[in-house]
Amino acid sequence: MQDPPLRFHIRTYGCQMNERDSEALSCLLEREGYVPAASEDEADILLFNTCSVRDQAERKAVGKVGLMRKRKRAEPDLIVGVIGCMAENQGAALLERLPHVDLVVGTRQIHRLPAMIAGVLAGRRGVVRIGTGEIDFTRLAGHRRSGPSAYVAVMRGCNQFCSYCIVPHVRGREQSRPIDEVVEEVRGLVGQGAKEIVLLGQNITAYGIAEARRAGLYTPQASPFADLLRAVSAVPGVERVRFTSPHPGFMNKAFVEAVTSLPNVCEAFHIPLQSGSDRILRLMRRGYSAAEYRSVVAAIRARCPQAAFSTDVIVGFPTETAADFAATRELMAEIGFDMAYVFKYSPRPGTEAAAMGDDVPEPAKLERNKILLEDLEVRVRERNRRYVGKVCEVLAEGPSKRNPARWSGRSRTNKVCIFEPVRGLAVGDLVEVRVEWVTAHSLFGRILATCPG
Ligand code: SAH
Ligand code: SF4
Ligand code: F3S
Repeated sequence: MQDPPLRFHIRTYGCQMNERDSEALSCLLEREGYVPAASEDEADILLFNTCSVRDQAERKAVGKVGLMRKRKRAEPDLIVGVIGCMAENQGAALLERLPHVDLVVGTRQIHRLPAMIAGVLAGRRGVVRIGTGEIDFTRLAGHRRSGPSAYVAVMRGCNQFCSYCIVPHVRGREQSRPIDEVVEEVRGLVGQGAKEIVLLGQNITAYGIAEARRAGLYTPQASPFADLLRAVSAVPGVERVRFTSPHPGFMNKAFVEAVTSLPNVCEAFHIPLQSGSDRILRLMRRGYSAAEYRSVVAAIRARCPQAAFSTDVIVGFPTETAADFAATRELMAEIGFDMAYVFKYSPRPGTEAAAMGDDVPEPAKLERNKILLEDLEVRVRERNRRYVGKVCEVLAEGPSKRNPARWSGRSRTNKVCIFEPVRGLAVGDLVEVRVEWVTAHSLFGRILATCPG
């Protein structure tokens, strides 16, 4: 090992899985003798964990890595690495655009990073490692605890191939971890003070299905993910369980039964809709109709009326007409989402939809995007009014960023709650907050009691 030890810094873009990967990689690098840099400027090794999901995400990452060219000229020993989804997507082509990059490491090779850094130190620069391979979950199990909530990656990859989506191309095929291994990781996290476990997977409701199929054990009535939820919920000390991202196509009876009956599974469900038009859903290869989506939400609501729903929607998919868009708008109004991410369609080279052209003009995409967000703001404010006067269980996360005199936390329905702290309040406490007033973004209230956790 070098003396003094080399300092690393990881910049993370993209989804929670990338955040989780960066956390696990930090632990792996620390085990190998590297130390976290106090700031990006002090790092000897600078890694960019990137996202490819939309063109904008790639452009942002390329821009940030490009800015390092100057620094590299001044500090030729600086090691610059691009890892994650864009590394996987572009591979060696990245080195042509960004010749100051030393390492390009794809999504299923990141556990090899320490060896690759050693290679760079030994003089091998411009190394690219992407392509198939199994993820080494055991090398990526480390956690750096902060806050009461912890991410646990339970599966990776996606076999869905929605026509617009790059994720299956950059994350590879679905690979799930055995239940015992996940439970072990959760036990460890609870032992270190975690209260809320957020299970992650690119197609999490398909957890365990590929493995069950290979073993000849899969039936459409089964839900290996429901079995996993049951096991994780049963770990003593787990107060809350959340999960993301699911696909509505796997939300069968066994799934609905589990999420609505397990007391620590939170009543907040993120269910990507993408479009309310059956024609567009077919072109997207989502595998469900608007009616099927509705019935999944209805099945959950029937057993859990207080459930909150959030979603992802794409506007401006190829051939999307005003009528298709109106169908999305109406379905969103009908469901009454508590939160939604609205994305403008961005063609991803190599996907099926990229061959359909990109015929919805940018101004129309912008307009549709704006309309959905405006609808949502009005509706969420209305929905939040229902909380006034009610008592919510809130997991205290610490002083609020905007006003450190107040604390913030989340309700089980994933609403941000702002409240005045009481003496002795600690991060990770579950408190009962009576909501006094609301905006479209947060609930504001006062602590009634600390819940016996
Ligand atoms: N596995 C997740 C999706 C991850 S990508 C899921 O199925 O929910 C997150 C969101 O990005 C998707 O739900 C979709 O709404 C959006 N998205 C994916 N590809 C896109 C594209 N090419 N253009 C615009 N939005 C896209
Ligand atoms: Fe992409 Fe569809 Fe897989 Fe989600 S389910 S990651 S949208 S291909
Ligand atoms: Fe982006 Fe990769 Fe996540 S493409 S959304 S970082 S899986």
